Amino acid sequence: MTSDVTAGRVPACEGAPVIGPPAAQAVAELGWGMWASAVVQAAAQLRLADAVDDQPASVGEIAKSVGADVSALTRLMRALVGFGIFRQAGPGRYEHTEASRALRSDASVSLTDIMLTGSDWGWAMWGKLAESVRSGNCAFQETYGKDLFTYFHEDDNASGAACLKGYAAQSRAMNPGVVRALDLSRAKTFCDVGGGHGSLVLSLLEGNPHIRGVLFDRKHAIDSVVPELREGPVSERVELVVGDCFESVPGADVHLIRQVLHMWDDDACHQVLSNCVAAGHPGGRVVLLEQLVADPPETPWDALMDLHMLLVMGGWERTEEEYGAMFERAGMEFAGVTPTGTPLRLIEGRIPG
Ligand SMILES: C[S@@+](CC[C@H](N)C(=O)[O-])C[C@H]1O[C@@H](n2cnc3c(N)ncnc32)[C@H](O)[C@@H]1O
Repeated sequence: MTSDVTAGRVPACEGAPVIGPPAAQAVAELGWGMWASAVVQAAAQLRLADAVDDQPASVGEIAKSVGADVSALTRLMRALVGFGIFRQAGPGRYEHTEASRALRSDASVSLTDIMLTGSDWGWAMWGKLAESVRSGNCAFQETYGKDLFTYFHEDDNASGAACLKGYAAQSRAMNPGVVRALDLSRAKTFCDVGGGHGSLVLSLLEGNPHIRGVLFDRKHAIDSVVPELREGPVSERVELVVGDCFESVPGADVHLIRQVLHMWDDDACHQVLSNCVAAGHPGGRVVLLEQLVADPPETPWDALMDLHMLLVMGGWERTEEEYGAMFERAGMEFAGVTPTGTPLRLIEGRIPG
C-alpha cells in the first residue's frame, strides 16, 4: 500500500512552522527532512555514539574523542537530543538512549555502518537528482567518469570498504527473513554471486547444516569477508572465490544473486544470468533477491531504491514481468516470486530439464 503523509506531520519536523493545510505541510516537512538526515549522517560520520559509554559524558570529552569543535558539537548534540538520539544528563553532559545506542559500532546491527554505506558520494549524488532526471543519465558516471566499483577500486578503497561494511550490516538485518523464505532442503550446493562480505552465505550455512556454499565476488570483497567464513564451524563448508561474474561464475545447484542485478542494464544482467545457466545443471535454480517496482509503488522505499540505482549505478529496479522476461531470455523458466518479510523478494528461475 502506498503510504500517505497527508494525514499528519513528519516527526523529525516537530516544531516547524505551519505553512499550509496538512497535505502541503507534510510535503514541506518531507523536504525539510534533509536537515534531519544530515544530523544523523553527521552523528554517524563522527562516530559520536562510540564516544559515550555507560556513563554520561561531557561535550568536551566527546569533542576530544571524535576531533570536533566543542561549540559546534554542542549544537549538533542539541539537535540529536531533540530527536531522542542521546539524552541531556545535565548542562553540557549527554547520555545514551536506546536510539543513540543503535548507532554504536558494537550494536548487533550497526546503524552507523548502514548510514556510512554511501555517506559522502551518496549524499552528493542525491543532490543531483533533478539533473539525472533531466538527462536520464547516471549521476555517478557523469561526475566521476567511471562506475562506482571501478572508482572504489582505483580511487577510494576506504569508501569501498565502508560501502561493503554497510551492505553487510543491512544484509544481516534482512538475513533471517531470507533464510526462512528460501528452501534449500533439496540442494547440496549454492553460490552467492556478488555476495559481498558474505553475511548471507554465513546465515544460509548456519540455517542449512547439510549444505556447502561458495561466496563469489571481486577481490576487494573477498579480502574482507566476515571472519566466521575464514575460521569457525561453518568455514569448512564454504569456498571463497574471486572472479568477475561477467566472465563466468562457479557451478552450484542454486545460484543466488542479491541486490546485484538492479545495478545493471538488461544486457549486463543477461550476461550474468547466462553465465549462471552455463555453470548450473538441468533443474538448477537461479534465485534473485531484489525489490520489485510497480505503478503505483507498493512502498515509497521501492521507488527510492530505484532512484538510488539511477543516481549511483545507472541500473534500475524491475517489475515481476521484467524479471520473468529476463529469465526466459537466458533460457530459464520463470518459477515465481516469494515474499521474505523484508523489502526483498525471492525471484526464481529454473534451468529446464
Ligand atoms: C550492492 S552489493 C551487494 C552485496 C551482497 N549481495 C549483499 O546483498 O549484501 C553488490 C556486490 O556486487 C559485487 N560485484 C560488482 N561487480 C561484480 C562483478 N563483475 N563480479 C562479481 N561481483 C561483482 C560487488 O563487489 C558487491 O559486493
